[in-house]
Amino acid sequence: MSEAAGSRVLLMHPVLDPAPALLEEAACEAVPFPDGAPLTEAAIREAVEVGGCQGILSQVMDPIGDSVLSVPGLAIVANVAVGFDNIDIPAATRHGVMATHTPGVLTDTTADFAFALMMAAARRVAEGDRFLRAGRFGGWAIDMLLGQDVWGATLGLVGVGRIGGAVARRARAFEMRILYTDAVALPPDVERELGATRVDLDTLLREADFVSLHVPLSPDTRHLISGPQLARMKPTAVLVNTSRGPVVDEAALAAALRDGQLFAAGLDVFEREPDVHPDLLALDNVVLAPHIASGSVRTRSEMSVLAVRNLLAGLRGERPPNLLNPDVLPR
Ligand code: DGY
Repeated sequence: MSEAAGSRVLLMHPVLDPAPALLEEAACEAVPFPDGAPLTEAAIREAVEVGGCQGILSQVMDPIGDSVLSVPGLAIVANVAVGFDNIDIPAATRHGVMATHTPGVLTDTTADFAFALMMAAARRVAEGDRFLRAGRFGGWAIDMLLGQDVWGATLGLVGVGRIGGAVARRARAFEMRILYTDAVALPPDVERELGATRVDLDTLLREADFVSLHVPLSPDTRHLISGPQLARMKPTAVLVNTSRGPVVDEAALAAALRDGQLFAAGLDVFEREPDVHPDLLALDNVVLAPHIASGSVRTRSEMSVLAVRNLLAGLRGERPPNLLNPDVLPR
């Protein structure tokens, strides 16, 4: 039995096979978050206290703030996601709680989906489906549901970390010109490999036919794309967001799409999930997906396993492979 044996872990939501078996093998006790309890900090804190938990296996919709992280005995929060804006990392560090995430395993699956949204929005796939099902397809017509070409167009990547880079690799096969903006420039050999040129955000917005967002949510990126930024984009451009909803001002986006300031958008994430701005729901030129960019059978299973491996390492007192706040460890 490992030193994690006997630890109690708050399982906020079920995870996918084979992750539950790993917890069992390590003789950890999974304490399910009470059925029907609200996903609030107060309810999560209570579940950690009542369950006597040393670990939490959390997901993107679980708010893990100071009041949760200050529960005595809590050692680690392992998020089943690459994003971690649901966890107050400075508070975790203050309270000596490790926080981890699941980078890498979802990169290509998420990049595939960003590309799918780009193509669906540009070529009006979802709109065409609705059109046909409504019985409006009366036969081929030269001017029916015309879209924008992806092939040969200019792609602007806002953020070019793992996922942005994977989108760029796909874009190369479509012979796209690639612009990117990021706080840190890519090494010259990677820029060459991706065929990507670093520009400022205004240039990217003015020149790109497709703008794809790949930045984490932070105070600096909240509403990074709002009215003034949308106004800089081409009327033929498409905006894709697979990062975090609040990076885009949804009301401003809906107005831009409605007024023809922008051709279309593809969104996987929303400002107040699971709610979607009603003005977006009323528009035909936006493809809406329910936060499923990493949602392939294999990837969600790999995310579950990686999160449990991080959790078990932390419970054993080892450094988890994907630790977000190394300052918690003794130096
Ligand atoms: C993440 O991993 O951050 C996604 O939003 C869910 O896969």
